[in-house]
Amino acid sequence: MEFFVTHQAVDHYSGDCSVAFVLKGKSNENRIIQNYLDLHRFEPKLASTLMLGKVEGYKSKRVLVVGLGESPLSQKNYMKVLKSLSSAMSELKVKNVVIPSIDVEDADEAWLQITTARILKNESYKIQKVGVKEKASDIVLEAVNIYSQNNGASEIQKGVAIANGMALARELGDLPPNICTPSYIAEKAMSLADTYNLECEILEESDMESLGMNSLLSVSKGSSEPGKLISLSYSNAGNEAPIVLVGKGVTFDSGGISLKPGQGMDEMKYDMCGAASVLGAMSAIAEMNLQVNLTVVVPTVENMPAHNASKPGDVVKSMSGQTIEILNTDAEGRLILCDALTYCEKFKPKAVIDIATLTGAVIIALGKHHSGVMSNDQKLADALKSSGLSSLDTVWQLPLDEEYDDLLKSNFADMANIGGREAGTVTAACFLARYAKNYSWAHIDIAGTAWLGGSKKGATGRPVPLLTQYIMDQV
Ligand code: BES
Ligand code: MN
Ligand code: ZN
Repeated sequence: MEFFVTHQAVDHYSGDCSVAFVLKGKSNENRIIQNYLDLHRFEPKLASTLMLGKVEGYKSKRVLVVGLGESPLSQKNYMKVLKSLSSAMSELKVKNVVIPSIDVEDADEAWLQITTARILKNESYKIQKVGVKEKASDIVLEAVNIYSQNNGASEIQKGVAIANGMALARELGDLPPNICTPSYIAEKAMSLADTYNLECEILEESDMESLGMNSLLSVSKGSSEPGKLISLSYSNAGNEAPIVLVGKGVTFDSGGISLKPGQGMDEMKYDMCGAASVLGAMSAIAEMNLQVNLTVVVPTVENMPAHNASKPGDVVKSMSGQTIEILNTDAEGRLILCDALTYCEKFKPKAVIDIATLTGAVIIALGKHHSGVMSNDQKLADALKSSGLSSLDTVWQLPLDEEYDDLLKSNFADMANIGGREAGTVTAACFLARYAKNYSWAHIDIAGTAWLGGSKKGATGRPVPLLTQYIMDQV
């Protein structure tokens, strides 16, 4: 699927399909289209579609009418319009299309082009079954032409880069946990480093032992898959302090000795979606060749029950020197992230953002719509909220008061790794905050947003758009 900018009026497009957007309560300027709409009693409800055949005055073979609902069209509703446009085009096997420009509330043309390309490309993503080669004939939509009076090719390429980053994240997320192991993620990182000329460092368990990362190692020790700590650096802004993204990479979370119930346990293959999202964001930024310094850090392990696994009651000393009483081996994400956060200090970061499928509680609090964000720096939280809104990949802030931190008290160590049933998302963040005191830090809990269950089971590619937009907004 390729994208082009076209300066030619859409009715002059002589390909397969032209899109015509129609607002509610406003008849189409093209009389003939309007007659068809009346004939079909078509109501231009938000995201409704109607395919017409050959229309006089249009050079294309057919015209796809897409309803926009009431004006003004919000950014969020434009996303809904694009999603239904995409599914109509795939159902009707549209081979190539021209899309007219459109008024979206508070959006400029650059936003329109980035968003259109990103969403159409991401919607066309096909899940690959393991070992099954995609047939060439499965690919139907070959060319998308976006009308613009100006030259927007570079904006469109940014949208494509974000969609490619999302595809990488989705692919990694969906892979079965017997394939997507910590070693597999390390290989993916190395191949990204190859493609984009990134600096890549992979710490093995013995290296982590020397650094004193006993908290991370306490999770991976129960698995026969060796844990890794991956870092990838993209430098395109001289000696500016880098933005560091840290992604939770638990390739399977059984819970460990605090074993999870069997129902739905397969979905714990998605417990590496934080890692997948930071690799996806890195790929998007490097593909755009953006002038920033970006480092991603991925602690990656498998959390398994075994004779040599951590037990509830075990006490470990983290790299920071703080000790942790492991009261629940299923609260493993924070145990690997805390050592990764300490490790980040070596990059002298401008800001550190960790992304993790950290708590089931965030799904109860926010559902599958917003990711949760918590921060020790309100400016950083505000920046993430704003990048979330413009990339249509939103976050909702939760608090970090010390009253919540008190819940982590332990009689046997500096802290416990759980805080009880209440405010589980916040106490998990309070735990991490104890390791992020030396820089500006935010934590994004994506347990609700990184994948969908049920018949739509699959990784979403979130929050690659948010992270990429945040970094683009820093330039
Ligand atoms: N990976 C899970 C969080 C999770 C659970 C994500 C369900 C998506 C769906 C995490 O490691 C975990 O198990 N968290 C525990 C924490 C608890 C033991 C304090 C949880 O949320 O139940
Ligand atoms: Mn867990
Ligand atoms: Zn987990």
